[in-house]
Amino acid sequence: MKRTADFLKMKTNNDKIAMITAYDFPSAKHAQSGGADIILVGDSLGMTVLGYESTVSVTLSDVIHHTKAVKRGARNTFTITDMPFMTYHVNKEETMKAARALMQEAGADAVKLEGAGEIVDRVRELTEAGVPVCAHLGLTPQSVGVMGGYKVQGKTAEAARKLLEDAKEMEQAGAFMIVLECVPYQVAESITKSLAIPVIGIGAGGKTDGQVLVYHDIMRYGVDRTAKFVKSYANFDTEGVPAVQSYVIEVKNGAFPSDEHTFTMNEEELDRLYG
Ligand code: KIV
Ligand code: NA
Repeated sequence: MKRTADFLKMKTNNDKIAMITAYDFPSAKHAQSGGADIILVGDSLGMTVLGYESTVSVTLSDVIHHTKAVKRGARNTFTITDMPFMTYHVNKEETMKAARALMQEAGADAVKLEGAGEIVDRVRELTEAGVPVCAHLGLTPQSVGVMGGYKVQGKTAEAARKLLEDAKEMEQAGAFMIVLECVPYQVAESITKSLAIPVIGIGAGGKTDGQVLVYHDIMRYGVDRTAKFVKSYANFDTEGVPAVQSYVIEVKNGAFPSDEHTFTMNEEELDRLYG
């Protein structure tokens, strides 16, 4: 399994880091078999697998449950779990307890926190306690209610300067990695070049140290629409719905199950039973 030091080395060597989300046993197996460097148990699971409107509904016990399943499917892949909405804002003690549960109970290798400002202190405290922390800047979906929607961030000179400052503060506080979401590629590039720690982009162009995408977006699995920055590499939906339709038709017309899918008892035993 790769470790935080390996990701630093990858940045230094200009080796791109490929991160993908996973939420359960099969998606984790796909991620590991496909060679992903890092799995993110993102709170996007609220939308992708639980059907919520946003990540705000996701709880600590949700991510613990899903991280356990992911680790069973991908023991050898470094796994970061999102700290859910309001689990790291109340105080240091609550933050520590939540991180403890994610690492000790669920088996996460690191945690991810959204935001800057006071969150910088949380990142420092967690790092001092031995918890590897990935910071998440730019578009931070847990704040969608405050941001007023999912919009590109850092589009003005002032906003871009603030993002760079926030990123530097996170590095200073001990973050081992930064996820940068939905920012112009020029801003992402300058932040990437200004930091020693790896910057993983999503909707942040091709100049970052790596990329992250959501499993269900990559597979087009139960998603109605995707953002501009998403690229799908498969289409589970166009395969999946006809598969269900064929199954239903064959059950109704008796074509399924055929002999091929049916168990049988030998003649002698049949005779003893009914003969
Ligand atoms: O929850 C998530 O999937 C994320 C990524 C989009 C970075 O935070
Ligand atoms: Na997230």
